[in-house]
Amino acid sequence: MEINKLTGSLKGEIRVPGDKSISHRSIILGSISEGKTHINNFLMGEDCLNTIKCFRKLGVKIDINDSEVIVDGVGIKGLKKSIEPLYAGNSGTTMRLLTGLLSGQSFETIISGDESLSKRPMDRITKPLSLMGADISCSNGIYPPIIINQVNKLTGLKYKQKKASAQVKSSILLAGLYTDEDIEILQPEISRDHTERMMKYFGIDIRIEGKKIYMRGKREKLTGKKVFVPGDISSAAFYIVAASIIKDSHIVIKDVGINDTRTGIIDVMMNMGGSIKIHNKRTINEEDVGDIEIKYSNLKSIEIGGDIIPRIIDEIPIIALAANFAEGSTVIRDAEELKVKETNRIDAVCCELNKMGADIIPSDDGMIINGGKNLTGSSVSSRGDHRIAMMLAVAGYLAEGKTSIDNFESVNVSNPNFMKIFNSLCHI
Ligand code: S3P
Repeated sequence: MEINKLTGSLKGEIRVPGDKSISHRSIILGSISEGKTHINNFLMGEDCLNTIKCFRKLGVKIDINDSEVIVDGVGIKGLKKSIEPLYAGNSGTTMRLLTGLLSGQSFETIISGDESLSKRPMDRITKPLSLMGADISCSNGIYPPIIINQVNKLTGLKYKQKKASAQVKSSILLAGLYTDEDIEILQPEISRDHTERMMKYFGIDIRIEGKKIYMRGKREKLTGKKVFVPGDISSAAFYIVAASIIKDSHIVIKDVGINDTRTGIIDVMMNMGGSIKIHNKRTINEEDVGDIEIKYSNLKSIEIGGDIIPRIIDEIPIIALAANFAEGSTVIRDAEELKVKETNRIDAVCCELNKMGADIIPSDDGMIINGGKNLTGSSVSSRGDHRIAMMLAVAGYLAEGKTSIDNFESVNVSNPNFMKIFNSLCHI
């Protein structure tokens, strides 16, 4: 992909594709519900389509038409053994959540992934699931493919998470649907809570008290529902930052998910001096939704760390770009998780943006971004990571000359329309 410096500003109103995390969960919970689940604004990105393909292999009928995805739920005990291994592609959420769900079934399952996913650690889920009686193995005890053996029953679990992770807690909660005993999870910091909210919406007795989650024994059945998937704030983040740093911009992003476990990007940008307002707040199927208005502003550096990190974990690459255009040095710490995302995002952000003239120093758990640097178009690589690709595209629009981004197609994972939406905002 080749990108030239943008001469004008960003103006207008857009919508971003449906939330990736919520789209995955709507297929998972819809599949094990009784009755049909109708999903509106489902994210037709590669990750979520892989989740659909996995459930079809497990015997669930899922229809995709122009306006909605319809899942014909088979009930909590109705999944069938897949004759071939399941394939999660690039999607850590698919692999980790399905491993939890499938660890209490009366059949064996194998789940594999692409080259990137095959290098991501799975012991963070296999350890707690084994404590529940699951029988799971993976290569070196850590990496995919995952083999889930049949077990007679799972037990309850009282688990203190060492690291905040929605994928880990969701994996435990989904396994917890297959035991009559209690599940209690204590989180070090609060991570995204879409699983908890959607389980509640589908009829499960689940309670959140601060950092604790309780799911009491004797599960109720899940009932198929209508789900509206709000726009993905992690996709919106690229346009939020672009409008904040491209002079004279003024945009509105409609119907975005603003669940407060996800809105760290808004807090960070406002702390940096950004001009952001939320309008038309409402709650749809237990999720908060609103319209986000962003205006260009002069940004200043800040320090970022501690309990905000799980709320911005997917947005740090684009926050680093915002910090490059801010006055002063921004410090990001407590974010070592970035090393085990789709690529090592500390390394990718620092190396690729420094090629364009940024001054970013990597650290063990984050980076220091010395702001106020002009960027120059160069040849850079997404490293096959959708969020690095989109961050570099925004950088390319701000850099002098031409930027060429290798393996840009990775944007298809979460926002196949990234460019089309961006171009609709460009005003010369
Ligand atoms: C996700 C949780 C986060 C996030 C990922 C999606 C989810 O991962 O980075 O993109 O849908 O549960 P962790 O739970 O590993 O932090």
